[in-house]
Amino acid sequence: MSENAGGCCRCCCSFIFTLGLTSLFMWLSLRTSNPKCSIQAFYLPALDKSSNNRNNTTLQFQLKLENTNKDKGVYYDDVNVTVYDFPNRSHIIGTSVIGRFYQGHKKTAHKNGTAPTDQKVVSRAVFANGSAVFRVDLVTAVRFKIIAWKTKRHKIAVGADVEVNVNGTKVNKKNIKLSSSGSNNVSYYCCCVGILLYFFVLIFA
Ligand SMILES: *[C@@H]1O[C@H](CO)[C@@H](O)[C@H](O)[C@H]1NC(C)=O
Ligand SMILES: *[C@@H]1O[C@H](CO)[C@@H](O)[C@H](O)[C@H]1NC(C)=O
Ligand SMILES: *[C@@H]1O[C@H](CO)[C@@H](O)[C@H](O)[C@H]1NC(C)=O
Ligand SMILES: *[C@@H]1O[C@H](CO)[C@@H](O)[C@H](O)[C@H]1NC(C)=O
Repeated sequence: MSENAGGCCRCCCSFIFTLGLTSLFMWLSLRTSNPKCSIQAFYLPALDKSSNNRNNTTLQFQLKLENTNKDKGVYYDDVNVTVYDFPNRSHIIGTSVIGRFYQGHKKTAHKNGTAPTDQKVVSRAVFANGSAVFRVDLVTAVRFKIIAWKTKRHKIAVGADVEVNVNGTKVNKKNIKLSSSGSNNVSYYCCCVGILLYFFVLIFA
């Protein structure tokens, strides 16, 4: 009788263990991370004191979009870029759309964009010393390609402050990382907590 109960318990335990391992591996292989976005170049000829092309009110920029997933492709929806006069986003100075595209795993895309700007708003944003701090926000949605299957859309909303000097280019020589202000990682932490709970139950069951 007791032998029987012990066998049943062992069987039950190994069932739970297998189920747990399976879900762990499922989670590991289905887990996706959002592309990394940064600004590589940012140039406003109209603010370039050294240029004789200051009538050109078009903002030129370059984005770097990086798919860090080892084995998943990324389908980007239209990438909407909005540039504001100040970090507090009081007025829009220009917008730009980079058309939808597909990116293979571990690939990096460099996308050039232009945005006609509202010169009145731009000139109000410039400090007396000729520099300015703009806000750049990027909004898009991505679907991940896992083997032959596409996930649902994941929304991406990231941004950064961009300081511009008297030559109309970004002050920071390095790429400016665009990051989200909200807590994008909630589901990731939920998963981690779930897995920890699972092993906890396993040990004490
Ligand atoms: C800029 O525009 C002004 C007025 O429209 C014009 O007088 C000037 O020649 C232009 N400058 C250049 C460099 O095109
Ligand atoms: C945003 O910041 C700028 C500069 O600091 C300021 O002049 C402007 O009034 C602010 N706008 C809002 C809506 O807070
Ligand atoms: C220009 O002025 C602004 C505001 O007064 C300041 O934040 C910024 O650091 C100055 N930039 C330079 C290059 O002096
Ligand atoms: C991007 O902008 C277009 C048109 O302005 C809009 O239809 C689309 O929903 C925007 N995309 C996102 C992700 O907000």
